[in-house]
Amino acid sequence: MQNEKLKEMKECFIEKFGETGEIRSYFAPGRVNLIGEHTDYNGGHVFPCALTIGTYMLARKREDSKLRFYSMNFEKIGVVESSLDELNPKQDENWTAYPKGVMWTFQQKGHAIDNGFDILLYGNIPNGSGLSSSASVELVTGVMLRDMFGYNDLTNIDLSLYGQYSENNYNGVNCGIMDQFAIAMGKKEHAIFLDTNSLTYQYAPVKLEDAEIVIACSNKKRGLGDSKYNERREECETALAEIQKVKNVPNLGALTSEEFEEVKDAIKNPVRQKHARHAVYENERTVRAVTLLLNNEIEAFGRLMNESHTSLRDDYEVTGIELDTLVEQAWKCEGVIGSRMTGAGFGGCTVSIVKTEAIDNFIKTVGEAYEKKIGYKADFYVVNIGDGPQRLE
Ligand code: GLA
Repeated sequence: MQNEKLKEMKECFIEKFGETGEIRSYFAPGRVNLIGEHTDYNGGHVFPCALTIGTYMLARKREDSKLRFYSMNFEKIGVVESSLDELNPKQDENWTAYPKGVMWTFQQKGHAIDNGFDILLYGNIPNGSGLSSSASVELVTGVMLRDMFGYNDLTNIDLSLYGQYSENNYNGVNCGIMDQFAIAMGKKEHAIFLDTNSLTYQYAPVKLEDAEIVIACSNKKRGLGDSKYNERREECETALAEIQKVKNVPNLGALTSEEFEEVKDAIKNPVRQKHARHAVYENERTVRAVTLLLNNEIEAFGRLMNESHTSLRDDYEVTGIELDTLVEQAWKCEGVIGSRMTGAGFGGCTVSIVKTEAIDNFIKTVGEAYEKKIGYKADFYVVNIGDGPQRLE
């Protein structure tokens, strides 16, 4: 499948940009977060994994500073032309803002990018679905630039930080490090237990035996930039500042739930207090969940996934009727070990651990109930955990 697609991409590349010169191919995965949501910008823990689906890039260096982009996912947009002299943070409106942002970041960090490119992309992650199609584009671009210019001193963790820097400063989304890190450090059949405060991490084998990871995509589109994401992040910062007046603590992730209960009244606004509570409890839950998974206590891990969703719904208020319907229907299905929203929320996807023998029925019953209630279909994907970004061939 991969080789056939690459062949098709190459034909398309030649048709759009002509044949001469060396064309190189790259891949970066998407990611799904198993537990630990909205904790990464609070110095807490996350537990994501890279997927085998992701973004493919073909790229060829140019002699001049022109940039030409084409995405097989946005055929109607056609070839987008630009130049390295026109990298304008927060000005770009189409998808090319993601690769351009990473080029700009390389320059900002002192790595000269002095040739333009012809670039063709194809991704098999549903766009804007919460599986990090944008971080995947950032990382495939980072790996391409490192390879093309021989910046071999840059580690994958450096590239993940560049991706985040680019998203924060070029695209204007104040995301944490989870997505870029999960993609950059992806490892087949393993999830990554990451402490976002210190960036220390541990790989945990995901052995689900007779169960699999099923993603349900709500098809409710959301753009992180226009969602309430930045607002939630600011609220957490305000809550932290209020707590710091009564307790010396570096971030919300450093608080235990008991400590939080002692100091929570320092947070004056009750809604903000609820939101901060999620960040603290979710972090604790994530640490517990990873221990359970490592001990092969999959059912107990699943129960914490369910609790995570409830907290995101009732305390953090980032789910919405689409994600709640998918998850609440999933909870009713036989063979479902755990189910929750994943990613930023406000639309996007849910992640469920479902017994293999129950998957067909799960997709049918959750799918039908969703369509009946919401009025349009959800899409389902049984996914596998894959490796990080790489040059292909
Ligand atoms: C988005 C952001 C991440 C993280 C999640 C919520 O995916 O990019 O940094 O904050 O939302 O857990």
